[in-house]
Amino acid sequence: MPRVTVIGIGYLGLTHAVCLADLGHEVLAIDVDEEKIAKAANGEVPFFEPGLEPLLRKNLDSGRLRFTMSFADIGDFGDVHFLCVGTPEGESGRADLGFVYAAADALAPHLASACLIAGKSTVPVGTARQVLNRVRATAPAGQAVDVAWNPEFLREGFAVQDSLSPDRIVLGVTSGRAEALLREVYATPAAAGVPLLVTDLETAELVKVAANAFLATKISFINAMAEICEEAGADVIPLAEALGHDARIGRRFLSPGLGFGGGCLPKDVRAFRATASALGVDSVVSLLTTVDAINQGRRDRVVALARDTAGGTLAGQRVAVLGVAFKPDSDDVRDSASLAVCARLAAEGAIVSVHDPVAMPSAAKKQPGLVYAHSVPAAAEGADLVLHLTEWSDYRAIDPAALARVVARRVIIDARCCLDAALWTDAGWTVHMLGRSRGSRGTKLLEGSGGQEGSRARGHAGRSRPKGMSGGTGPQGVSGG
Ligand code: UGA
Repeated sequence: MPRVTVIGIGYLGLTHAVCLADLGHEVLAIDVDEEKIAKAANGEVPFFEPGLEPLLRKNLDSGRLRFTMSFADIGDFGDVHFLCVGTPEGESGRADLGFVYAAADALAPHLASACLIAGKSTVPVGTARQVLNRVRATAPAGQAVDVAWNPEFLREGFAVQDSLSPDRIVLGVTSGRAEALLREVYATPAAAGVPLLVTDLETAELVKVAANAFLATKISFINAMAEICEEAGADVIPLAEALGHDARIGRRFLSPGLGFGGGCLPKDVRAFRATASALGVDSVVSLLTTVDAINQGRRDRVVALARDTAGGTLAGQRVAVLGVAFKPDSDDVRDSASLAVCARLAAEGAIVSVHDPVAMPSAAKKQPGLVYAHSVPAAAEGADLVLHLTEWSDYRAIDPAALARVVARRVIIDARCCLDAALWTDAGWTVHMLGRSRGSRGTKLLEGSGGQEGSRARGHAGRSRPKGMSGGTGPQGVSGG
């Protein structure tokens, strides 16, 4: 079995290292951040990811997973070096490849014998070939060093499951030797039936950004439909359900609302647009410009709606915000649509009181000016308006009658379109839901409808949309966004 190293133990790298060790590989992982390495070596995961910490501990105990800060150790140890460093957004939306090249440059002098560098980071097409040329120029092993690209498709919140049972494995290679090594690394999932696709380097790099661009397009598409539903007196929720029953369209990633955020989709859309622009491919540039603009427009829409419900100005208004993570089951607030809305409400003079089950510490670092409340009732105390911005399941379990007792005004904007509107209106609330026409009586959801992304497995519990969006009675107080 090839010996494996993992360079960079952020979200992607730590999950990859742990999961490869769990598949039975000997894994040595490195990072330049001493604190991260110390924590990981001690069995602590420095971010919120269900299921990862026990698996880290198990594989530390087995001795298959170890950590180091020495590139010399990594160079000596590995047959396959997985490059898992970050590619943050740089100038004009382009991907900043500083960490990729720094890692390749740090590793190259320690590559004395034949080995493979397999990139997993999301990069602009053409990067792998640059890495190949750069490493071969300085590594003692020269042409015996190979480079492959093996993009990662895991989702935060489902990282372990997505790594151990991915939908597919893509191997961008330039040699049979590289392919053979990677086939050995992924022998277990391949034997379990995970499709393994072998391509050239450029196609593999593009598969990843194309996948994220498609997901973002799907979300912006349904949000554009939400806008037309509001104007036309229709309801986007049953519309999405009905579209989703067409197997060619599919229901997943058709949840309307506040749009996409996080450390991947927004930056990858912009980086892909920058690549397309550099290559002169106008069709991709205009498509992705529209996708991004629709997405940003959702944030504007919620701020405008909040202003409207407050009678034209947010100055001095007390606004309670439910959820600041970019999506549920995550403590990540990178490009969080919710946090962006909070900042804009505060900039317009609102007093914003925030609650989130796990993301408040990371949010407080980015937006220290907001009030962080330890519970939903504490956040809503005296509120003129409640905003539901991240669809944690906890918020679907709120008792609207109990919450009604602590607020100043019973007005809620459900920017994720997944609260049980009838329940809230019955308790005297005025509910504004994006994507429903003003005065819409709501529509009973179809059997088997899903909410936002949950498990990749069909019918996953815990994310299904709450039943009874309206029932037969019709939520009198429900209005479009
Ligand atoms: C995304 C992709 O889904 C992964 O396949 C990919 O590997 C990852 O980026 C990456 O490039 O590293 P992630 O950022 O974890 O994963 O989040 P998603 O589950 O894709 O959600 C992204 C955003 O879209 C969230 O803000 C979510 O609330 C929003 N969303 C998702 C919607 O607004 N509607 C939907 O129907 C689905």
